[in-house]
This record gives sequence, structure tokens and C-alpha cells, in this order.
Amino acid sequence: MSTNIREESLALSEKLVALRRDLHRHPELSYKEFRTSGIVAALLRELGAEVRENVGRTGVVGLLRGGEGPVVAIRADMDALPVLEQTGLPFASETEGVMHACGHDIHTTCACGAAMLLASRLHTIGGSVKFIFQPAEEINDGAKAMLSDGVMDNPKPDMVFGLHNHPEIPAGKVGVKEGGLMASVDTIRITVTGKGGHGALPHRDIDPIAGSAAVISALQTVVSRNVDPQQPAVVSLGTIHGGTANNVIPDSVEMTGTVRTFNADLRASMEGMLRRVVENTAAGLGCKGELFYRYDLPPVMNDPQATALGRRAVEAIAGPEGVVVPVPSMGGEDFALLQEKAPGCFFWLGVGNPEIGAVHPWHSPLFTADESSLHIGAGILAQSALYALHYLRGE
Ligand code: NI
Repeated sequence: MSTNIREESLALSEKLVALRRDLHRHPELSYKEFRTSGIVAALLRELGAEVRENVGRTGVVGLLRGGEGPVVAIRADMDALPVLEQTGLPFASETEGVMHACGHDIHTTCACGAAMLLASRLHTIGGSVKFIFQPAEEINDGAKAMLSDGVMDNPKPDMVFGLHNHPEIPAGKVGVKEGGLMASVDTIRITVTGKGGHGALPHRDIDPIAGSAAVISALQTVVSRNVDPQQPAVVSLGTIHGGTANNVIPDSVEMTGTVRTFNADLRASMEGMLRRVVENTAAGLGCKGELFYRYDLPPVMNDPQATALGRRAVEAIAGPEGVVVPVPSMGGEDFALLQEKAPGCFFWLGVGNPEIGAVHPWHSPLFTADESSLHIGAGILAQSALYALHYLRGE
């Protein structure tokens, strides 16, 4: 009975393209997804789902209830970015300075398509599918907000699936990989404090600018000298602020950055290694170095069983040649927080196609996608849910 998802998803193509273009024309920033969530909620209601709105502020949850049985969740993010679109497409953003430059319009469309595909089937299969339309992925907050509003309870999903488009994977193919797919994301803030004074009299001051320079250089050795070369890790500083005038030594300098890893033990040890370098390097120049470390997101870890079901779904929808095993990314995704509550699989949906200019990376003002991927995305989410329900029922 699940063999015709492929044909049915293909038949939905036109509808999915229209939906995606409408969402693309009207992008909304994180926690401002009012129009988008309204469209999603209306569609879910039309399909007979029980709908909860304002979950995690602007999120929507739709429950398609079949008979007694397990619960599988499908998650899509909905937010856009503060980017001025430059694609020149006929359906380009009509909101100045806001653009679906990460393709979350694609994800929302695919999950809506999956809901269309599953709505007519649920009564025959036993089990329910929970659709999680998440806000604010771009600011790493939406999943957290939905979780504190109980998105993974009542009913609790037994397995969760989601996807992100990927412009480096050709349209027609899907990246499926067990284990680590996307890195953990942590935020650091470093303060180097000295004693301000006149720039002409440095011997009477303690210069936090010179102290910061030493700290920045020393930080480069944490990954290169302290981390196992077999384990990916990144420490990058993104801001540095200090001082008010060319001839004044400031009291302090503040820097912020990001830390990425895949391995839980390594992640746990990064804070201590960074703190040692920050405090002692600053102290060596007479300054006080302080590190604030915030654990934001765990890595996206694809569960072996969920991934095996997901791979089968991709083979059914895109053919065996549609499966690619991708190289993991040091980028992060708050889908990881849902995977802490239930085993899950996150796909990378290929949307690349040089012939139509779909070559630009995420967050580029030129980002675009091959829309022939939309029915594949909808199909693999629906098919994964069906396979997972059967598996969880022990069939
Ligand atoms: Ni994204």
C-alpha cells in the first residue's frame, strides 16, 4: 500500500511548487512567521489534523490521528533571514531585506506535502503522525521554545524525521548518513580586562588590547595542539570590541565566538581547554581573562534504525541511485534537540542544479533551488513515516 507514494508525490508537484513560491514571496523572520504558520495551520485542519497553534510562540503542531499505535514526528522549520534577495526570480521576496535564503520555504512545503500524502492513509495503518512546524531555527531557539511548550509530549513521538535542502547535492538525490551529520554549536564570550589610561603612558596601564591579541593567537593552538586530529573541531571568533579613541588604552576588550564539535567527550572538554588558555595567557600579560561558555545545541546524530528506515524511503522515492552518503557539516541544526527526545533521521535533500543557477550556498542573496526536489522531499518524509510506523508496530 505504500508503493504508490512515489507516484502520488509526483502528482502533487504543481501544488507544491505553487505553495513554495507563495512562501518564498512572503518570507518572515524568526518568531515572525505569522502568515506562514497561518497557512500551515489551515492546511493541516483541511486535512483533518488536530492543530495546536502558538507552540513555541509562532510554531504549529498538527496531529494526524490514525488508529491505536506508535507516533512518528515530521519536523520542518519555517523562518527566513535578513538578506536582500538578488535572484531576480519572478517569485522573489516581496518583503524588502527578508529572504528565504536558507530554503526553509522548501522544508515547510515538503512537510505540508507529506501531510497531504499521509492524511488519506492513516486510518488504514494504525498510528499517528505529528507534524512539527518550527519557528526560529536561524537563531537556534525555535526547537527549544517548542520543547518547553511540550511538542515532544502528548503524544510522545517514537521517532522523528526532518530534512534540510542542500545546494551541493544534485536535485534528485538525497544525503542519508548514520551518526554525526551536523556539529554541536556552542557560544563563547571572552573578556580581557586590564587598566585603562593614556596611550602615551602604557607603563602606567595594563593594556587589554595587547592581552587580547595574545589570547587570540593562543586560542589557535587549542584545536591544532590539544584536540585529537581525528576529531573535527572548530573555534572561531566572530566579534571583537574594545576601545574608544586612538590614544586611549581601554579598560577591557570583549570577544565572542563559536565552538563546533561532533564528539560529546570532546565537546565537554572544550570549555576547560579554552578557559585555561584564556585565563593564563591574559594573566601572563598582567590582564584578567574570563571565559563565558554557553552550550547551545548538541550535534545532529542520526539514529541507526531511523536512518535505515530513512534510506529505504529514499530508495523507494528517488531510486537506489538517489541515495548519497554526504560529508558531515560543521554547521548546526536545532533538529538535534528533538533527536535527544526520540531517535531520528535528518536528511539532506539535494536541490542543486547548475543549469538553473542553483549553485549558491545557504544564506547567499543568490540562493535558489531546483523545485523538482519538492515532491521528493514530501515523498521521503511521508514514506519514512510509513516505514517507521510499520517498524514500530513490529511489522
Ligand atoms: Ni537552514
